[in-house]
Amino acid sequence: MSKIKIAIDADDAASDLKNIVYEYLKKKEFDITDLRFISENPDAHYPEIGYNLAKKIQNNEYARGILICGTGLGMAMIANKVEGVYAGVCHDVYSAERLKKSNDAQVLTMGARVVGSELAKMICDAWLASEFSGGGSTTKVAIMRKLEKESFQGKK
Ligand code: RB5
Repeated sequence: MSKIKIAIDADDAASDLKNIVYEYLKKKEFDITDLRFISENPDAHYPEIGYNLAKKIQNNEYARGILICGTGLGMAMIANKVEGVYAGVCHDVYSAERLKKSNDAQVLTMGARVVGSELAKMICDAWLASEFSGGGSTTKVAIMRKLEKESFQGKK
């Protein structure tokens, strides 16, 4: 079975934590790419960095993405603006697991000013080890997708 492709990126508030998480996941032999949007676009802020990664998820270039900024909040907000992309902020292991199992999110965000590096690694491990569990969550995620489609089409 081929490995899923993962993208990671961060703003200038979170590049140290991003490097630690990237190296950690790379060592664990995940197929992870550091997009380094800021190295080509030094004036970029979290909205452009998060949008760049989210568009690549939308285009199926990557199956999952990890975005890190100061709080994780801005990155989640911008990633959720891209149709078909679902992102959530996680600063604990339980939420990270539920983010995939219940919400089927392809993007995990964290705040480098909120979590330490060891917890960030555990959060990534829990999220990457989880799959959408279906069952009762299928209906709820389907409703979210339906409402999202209506909203993006300007119907409501
Ligand atoms: C710093 O620009 C900070 O605002 C950013 O990293 C992030 O926390 C925003 O949500």
